[in-house]
Amino acid sequence: MLVSAKEMLQKAKAGHYAVGQFNINNLEWTKAILEVAQEKKSPVILGVSEGAGKYMGGYTTVVGMVNGLINELNITVPVALHLDHGSYDACYKCIKAGFSSVMFDGSHLPFDENLAKTTELVNVTNQLGLSLEAEVGSIGGEEDGVIGQGECADPMECKTIADLGVSMLAAGIGNIHGKYPENWAGLSFETLDAIQAQTGDMPLVLHGGTGIPADQVKKAINLGVAKVNVNTECQLAFAAEVRKYIEAGKDLEGKGYDPRKLLAPGTAGIKATVIEKMELFGSIGKAE
Ligand code: 13P
Repeated sequence: MLVSAKEMLQKAKAGHYAVGQFNINNLEWTKAILEVAQEKKSPVILGVSEGAGKYMGGYTTVVGMVNGLINELNITVPVALHLDHGSYDACYKCIKAGFSSVMFDGSHLPFDENLAKTTELVNVTNQLGLSLEAEVGSIGGEEDGVIGQGECADPMECKTIADLGVSMLAAGIGNIHGKYPENWAGLSFETLDAIQAQTGDMPLVLHGGTGIPADQVKKAINLGVAKVNVNTECQLAFAAEVRKYIEAGKDLEGKGYDPRKLLAPGTAGIKATVIEKMELFGSIGKAE
């Protein structure tokens, strides 16, 4: 059964570890992440961007697939199905489809509008027992081929949004989605410290988990991060393993073209990445 992310993140914050949000793209991704979470007794959050939701055939298809796998694979660890960077409309669509958690990303809106829409969604999700992630200070990334430096959120704006009663708060601290540019300045721990001081027990979310050096991830967790999002790193691992398989000509041997064989190394690559991240975040064994 899917659960809200609220309780698992409050436990993580109190226990000084983080739960991984791993974004899913298809069946292989979902199965790999769920199997690893069960094997390692770790709570887990499956992230679905609006684009990935569309790719997988719509939100109800995603809910059906995830619920089916949880039942058929006997997954007993806590699993939240979470909309990643959702618009206001997408939040309502996912709530209706059966997601257990949504992120409303109003960071690009004027602050008052972000505040008003987040307030409304806090009420709706609380009534339904779902978790809600809000965002303040947008997270950088590639736009038109240019990779921007990550923005830093205003700690007082973070406090205002946290006080609304959201379940978790994403705040820019110099982090970026996708690969980091060579001249990246690193995470701003000064900003994180100031946000943590203003938001107290609120579980903080670190987006752009791909490529952040392990020591910086650990330090961020010590300073209040309780959820780390990883997407690109699983994609890179999947692509590298499938490339190796094809370059070795294995798809041309016997029935090597069968998708169950062709995609197996990629799936193993995702699993290895998820295990590595769960070890780093400290979530292994926390669902026992
Ligand atoms: P990466 O793709 O950089 O790992 O970021 C994932 C993310 O933050 C999803 O919201």
